[in-house]
Amino acid sequence: MTTHAPRVFSGMQPTGNLTLGNYLGALRNFVALQDDEAFERLYCVVDLHAITVAQDPATLSRTTREVAAAYIASGLDPKRSILFNQSRVTAHAELGWIFTCVARMGWLNRMTQFKEKAGKNRENASVGLFSYPTLMAADILAYRATHVPVGEDQKQHLELTRDIAAKFNNDFQVPDFFPQPEPLIQKETARIMSLRNGANKMSKSDPSDMSRINLTDDADLIAQKIRKAKTDPEPLPSEAEGLEGRPEALNLVGIFAALSGVSVADVLAEHGGQGFGAFKPALADLTVERIAPIGEEMRRLMETPDEIDAILADGAERAGALARPVLREVYETLGLNGGGTA
Ligand code: TYM
Repeated sequence: MTTHAPRVFSGMQPTGNLTLGNYLGALRNFVALQDDEAFERLYCVVDLHAITVAQDPATLSRTTREVAAAYIASGLDPKRSILFNQSRVTAHAELGWIFTCVARMGWLNRMTQFKEKAGKNRENASVGLFSYPTLMAADILAYRATHVPVGEDQKQHLELTRDIAAKFNNDFQVPDFFPQPEPLIQKETARIMSLRNGANKMSKSDPSDMSRINLTDDADLIAQKIRKAKTDPEPLPSEAEGLEGRPEALNLVGIFAALSGVSVADVLAEHGGQGFGAFKPALADLTVERIAPIGEEMRRLMETPDEIDAILADGAERAGALARPVLREVYETLGLNGGGTA
């Protein structure tokens, strides 16, 4: 049993356009948690994580504001949740370093996302890309966060975070210093797949823009992408079992269910027997209705970048006030005299 106050932390990388996968897998859940007064909430734009691969500075600066705009446009209220970008709060980088000394090479060697991202060119990957999950652990544990809403692909990083917390508590004989944070993964939307290939995750880094719906896509583009989405020639089944072995159909039905707030069974009860010629226009209309207004609001917010920066600065101040005492205790625990006071 943890004795830590319920606190939610999550983040997104500003490495390109946010997608429907980011929205359904994580962001929508950030917003839903806002209605649960039991939790304090911090939502971060993880710009320090973005630089683990090469970034153009002007683009990074813009996409960082854009992710903040997506947070707000999706319904996060900067008064009820703390919104900020990671590099404004130095505790993340400081604790990240300490955790690179707690985590073991063997643990990081097992991370599947590093293997995917580094590909064949491992020798040339940045050291930061390898130690990426230690910074993620620092993001969460600098606030002693207890709950972390994420998509399925972050589960392994969360397990590593728990291992780091346990090793720190154990090595320094400070039981319960850090909590064991719980991932909050929405089963139905944990893994939204590419529109071009039902075996791949929908991703902002996929070379094909047709593989994803971006939150900034306009109504015509959203409809076009859904019209062109890969499918099979069979009509939709009337029951969920009939989607087995049909990953593209399963994905589109899952998106429909998530966006309309009903179960897959309900979608199939209504649309079972239909071919994709009839189902796709219904899905396109629904997606446009739910997603296009977010993009419009993001564009409106991006017209006043100073206002976004003011929100992030205010959030960073509140976040820093929570993290600083934790960091002070960490330095003391490690015998690093006066650490963190510069
Ligand atoms: P990132 O920026 O890749 O993705 C942000 C969030 O979106 C989820 N997600 C998806 N969910 C369902 N289907 C998809 N196709 C899909 N694509 C992305 C991700 O699971 C994630 O929740 N390492 C993190 C960022 C991070 C973080 C943190 C998260 C840094 N520090 C601390 C939580 C807590 C990442 O790269 O997410």
